[in-house]
Amino acid sequence: MAEAGSVADRVEQQADIVRVVGEYVRLKKNGQNFTGLCPFHSEKTPSFAVHPVKQIYHCFGCGAGGDVFKFVMEMDKCDFMEAVRTVADKCGIAIPRSRERSPEERREQQQRTVLVELHREAMAFFARQLESTAEGKAARGYLADRGLDAEAIARFGLGYAPSGGDALLRHLKTKCPDKLVELAGLASRDPSGRVHDRFRRRIMFPISNESGKVVAFGGRALGDDLPKYLNSPETPIYVKSGVLYHLDHAKEAIRAADATILVEGYMDTIAVARVGISNVVASCGTSLTEMQVKLLSRFSRRVVVNYDPDAAGQAATERSLSILLEHNCDVRVLALPGGKDPDTFIRTEGGAAYRKLLEGAPAYLDYLIGRARQLGVASVEQKLRAMNFLMPFVQRIPNALLRSEWASRIAQQLRVDEPVLREALRRAAAGRRSEVKTQPGLVGRAAKPAERRLVQMLMEESDFRERLGREIRAHQLHLGLETERILGALLEACAAGTTADAVSVAPKLEEYDRRLLFEIAFESGAEASWEEAESCLEVLRRRKSEEELASVQQQIEACVGSGSGGDGEELRALQARKLELRRRLASTAP
Ligand code: UTP
Ligand code: MN
Repeated sequence: MAEAGSVADRVEQQADIVRVVGEYVRLKKNGQNFTGLCPFHSEKTPSFAVHPVKQIYHCFGCGAGGDVFKFVMEMDKCDFMEAVRTVADKCGIAIPRSRERSPEERREQQQRTVLVELHREAMAFFARQLESTAEGKAARGYLADRGLDAEAIARFGLGYAPSGGDALLRHLKTKCPDKLVELAGLASRDPSGRVHDRFRRRIMFPISNESGKVVAFGGRALGDDLPKYLNSPETPIYVKSGVLYHLDHAKEAIRAADATILVEGYMDTIAVARVGISNVVASCGTSLTEMQVKLLSRFSRRVVVNYDPDAAGQAATERSLSILLEHNCDVRVLALPGGKDPDTFIRTEGGAAYRKLLEGAPAYLDYLIGRARQLGVASVEQKLRAMNFLMPFVQRIPNALLRSEWASRIAQQLRVDEPVLREALRRAAAGRRSEVKTQPGLVGRAAKPAERRLVQMLMEESDFRERLGREIRAHQLHLGLETERILGALLEACAAGTTADAVSVAPKLEEYDRRLLFEIAFESGAEASWEEAESCLEVLRRRKSEEELASVQQQIEACVGSGSGGDGEELRALQARKLELRRRLASTAP
């Protein structure tokens, strides 16, 4: 909850939670709310809801809930201020910088602009070299041999860096000093201090950031020169771990398909995209990073990992799986037959064959079980090793039922019959900390409509909120209700004159009550009138009277039974009270 008048408060006023959450979760309009698959636990049917009016979210499955900042904090694993900035950014809300930009910061910003401009210029230069020079002709021949025609060259912005040694430097001479070309990672300096082009005699693949600005290049050697691929170094505009090749072009398709195909290389990406599967990106040489996964999960959490089927690719697949699973991704693995990478496979077998295998790609655990079996499961030692390899992956599954299903599947597939191993497997599958808690909608069944409605009225900023609070408090009408603690917290806020909505009250509550509160907040409620409030209060009053009546009746019976009525005064008082309660209940009968 943002402090009134603060930057966060202003951002909150202007932000749209549906738009922000929509960048992470596919939301569908559903009555007054928006619903989708919960990003905080894995599920097949949506129990995650966003309330556009109250600007809150709540998962009826796992109980996660809060306001737009809480959502971003949880998704991006960031602190509050960072979340405020992210929200402001996504909603186009200008926020004042905490201080003026220093001259140093301004200079850096300018420098980044120049570096981006330089890359644009370099890309155009490389493209011209490929298109219209003698050397470029040979490079075009190489590309043609690999199945890339002019259309593909244009689509992926491919170019050629000539062998000369300073062709690019000379071209850029009039535009900027060598030092800047060096800073851009497009030139390097040899030990003697001489500057030369970084990329020579290479096919150039431009690498763009998410917003489509070219920030780096990958250069493929024409022949057997080493390294096979030379990439840009990290620069002020290129942080390798935060960029995915082709994401700028793929993101719409990723959203539409709600899936990403993750491959290793430039050529793989191009091959897959060219057969009409545009939701493909490459991690490019590095194994997948946490930053890349976060970037990706903004568009979809379903990923098919299609790395090269060699040892390096398998190792990278397993490393990537760990990171993807940690970020709640739904992962499948496509391991192509015949030791082929996606590019080779598509060129030899065709796009249709690829698509078919893609559709049948197994869930990551099935893939991993296959891998474990390849490593051998003959002896107990081997089985133990296979289990130790698989268990960390199983334990990341948030759902206990699924986890134990997978455990039995593993036992079966690895032919684990030994009781000791079975027991270890069972324990490992059982032992996960963050259990999925209760079934949707079970929480607040006992809370009756009237109290739920009163909770809503106290949360809304109606004119009679304080009067309502005073009334409940004066007669302690909330005691003994299912919503007792929720009402208590709301009454406190009312009395203190502070905001009392789900988000600000939630921190004062235990998990169970917090979930109930969010459930109630999501119930649709028309604007309330004092008449309605009064009739809800009446329900509570009756309930109180009924309870008292029952207790008075008990006391009377006790009195009579023990014959200890004394002078009968106590008994008379009790009977008088009973009569009064009876009358009141009769006169207010609904
Ligand atoms: P591969 O060696 O599988 O290359 O590396 P490839 O994509 O199949 O390329 P071709 O078909 O031989 O031309 C996969 C990716 O790893 C990175 C590149 O991003 C490459 O696309 N890589 C590879 C490097 O960065 N440097 C290298 O020396 C090799
Ligand atoms: Mn490859």
